[in-house]
Amino acid sequence: MARYVPMPMTLETVRQDIEDRLLEAASNRRSPMHTPVVATADADARIMVLRNFDTSDWTLRFHTDARSPKVETLEDNAAVAVLFYDRDEKVQIRCRGQARIETESSLATAAWSESDTYARRCYLGAPPGEEREQPSSGLPDEIEGKRPTEEELAPARKNFAVMVVKIESADWYFLSNDGHKRAIFTNGKGCWVTP
Ligand SMILES: Cc1cc2nc3c(=O)[nH]c(=O)nc-3n(C[C@H](O)[C@H](O)[C@H](O)COP(=O)(O)O)c2cc1C
Repeated sequence: MARYVPMPMTLETVRQDIEDRLLEAASNRRSPMHTPVVATADADARIMVLRNFDTSDWTLRFHTDARSPKVETLEDNAAVAVLFYDRDEKVQIRCRGQARIETESSLATAAWSESDTYARRCYLGAPPGEEREQPSSGLPDEIEGKRPTEEELAPARKNFAVMVVKIESADWYFLSNDGHKRAIFTNGKGCWVTP
């Protein structure tokens, strides 16, 4: 699926390109930007699935386990980076922002009920990062390998969280034989920078 970089290349068309790519990333599982790297202030990074991008306030939504180490890190320091890359189109988008974790909000409740039962099943298991003697999914035996019912899933709800990232800056980089191009949008204001 080849898309082309914005022509004419202006700050406005690049801003639109960022929005188009993040919307596509959230809605299309096959988008190369669907699974960005999310880095936290403790110099750790991990792949997460992008669930939503809101163009009105430039927020990204992810789902995670409220008991995961990254949630504890975010309580001390909410700074995150979210790194997207489309290898075929040679576009990198580096976002920096502040993350908040929501477990009880209406957003979290809606995200939980809209998620597939298989996706919700992992929140029934042990917290991420527990040490085991053997390879383990962490799921209870009676749940392993089957689709859980809504009733079985009920105790997992408390472990589910949404992570909302308010993008403060987005650094767009296009790699090209004609000369790489780069623009940074900080709190909505764009400028060209050298690559
Ligand atoms: C393809 C892929 C998708 C993943 N998606 C998520 C996700 O959406 N949310 C999440 O919390 N972890 C996801 N993970 C697991 C994380 O990369 C990470 O291992 C886990 O969240 C624990 O991270 P932490 O120890 O930094 O808290 C995914 C891993 C892979 C390989």
